[in-house]
Order: sequence, then structure tokens, then C-alpha cells
Amino acid sequence: MGKDNDMRGLSELEINEINAEIAHAPYRSSVAIEALKIVQKQRRWVSDDSLVAIAEHLEMSAEELEGIATFYNHIYRHPVGEKIILFCNSVSCWIRDSDGLEAHICSRLGVGPGETTPDDAYTFIPVPCLGACDRAPVMMVGDDLHQDLDQDKIDGILPALANESLVNRGDDQR
Ligand code: FES
Repeated sequence: MGKDNDMRGLSELEINEINAEIAHAPYRSSVAIEALKIVQKQRRWVSDDSLVAIAEHLEMSAEELEGIATFYNHIYRHPVGEKIILFCNSVSCWIRDSDGLEAHICSRLGVGPGETTPDDAYTFIPVPCLGACDRAPVMMVGDDLHQDLDQDKIDGILPALANESLVNRGDDQR
């Protein structure tokens, strides 16, 4: 219904949250990253239409905002799953077999790097250092940091998350 329109422009909630950021900012475009995050929080990712709407609201060009969105790693410009798995593949994790663990995760989820599971539950994204090198290998699932990973730990994390996701999806569909 009104959802399609909602997906094109900015919702009232998004505009209010962005305006609250602008109220404390020296100029409108200085809240670009916060505005992208606000929209992403509502929609999981930032579509071209959303990006144009944000740029117009911040009185900046879409190209300039696109540059900021591209530079900032955690803004997603393609559809993503309900939870993002950020998997570190930098050197401290690589020394501790992050390559093998990455292959293990991909095989469990049935996806490749950068892909989303068919049930839309997870997007798997290899990333540079997550800042916990002394506890390598490391990944984040949503907001949760998981350290000292091995295959057993991953097997314990992924089924639990899969069940949680299935429960949530079942609730949504009723
Ligand atoms: S290298 Fe993996 S957390 Fe730093």
C-alpha cells in the first residue's frame, strides 16, 4: 500500500530523526553519515531513491553523498539480510585460518562472500580488521562480537541464530 511510496522518499520518522541531527550540526550536509545510518536502520540498506531523497533533504548533490556512502564501509547500497555477518580477513585472523573458517561459514549458509541467504536471514561480508586482533579469528553477527573462533564455535553460533531467525519469521507471518 503506502509502503512503496515510503520506500521512495523519506518517512516522517526518518525526516524527524535527521532533522534532530541537523539541529546540532554546523550545516546540513555535515550529518550525511548519520542520515544514511538513520535510513539504513529503518530499511536495512540505502537504495538509489533513498540516497537521492537524503541528498535533497541535506541540500547536497547525490554524487557527493554517494561518495560518502561508498567511503563509509557500513552503509549498504544493495539489499542485505536481517543480520549482517562481518567476518575479519585481515592478517591476525588470516594467520589463524580465517580462510578455512570463511569457507566453513559459506558452506553452512550456502552463500559466497557478499551474498545473502535465500531466506533473507544473513548476509555474509568479509571485512578488514575488526579491532580485536588479540582474540583472532573474529566476526560480528549483527551487533555481537564473536572472538577466538574455530569451527565448533561457529557451529554453535550459526544454528542458534538460524533458529532465532526462524522463530522471528514465524511470528512475523502470523
Ligand atoms: S586482524 Fe582480525 S580483528 Fe584484527
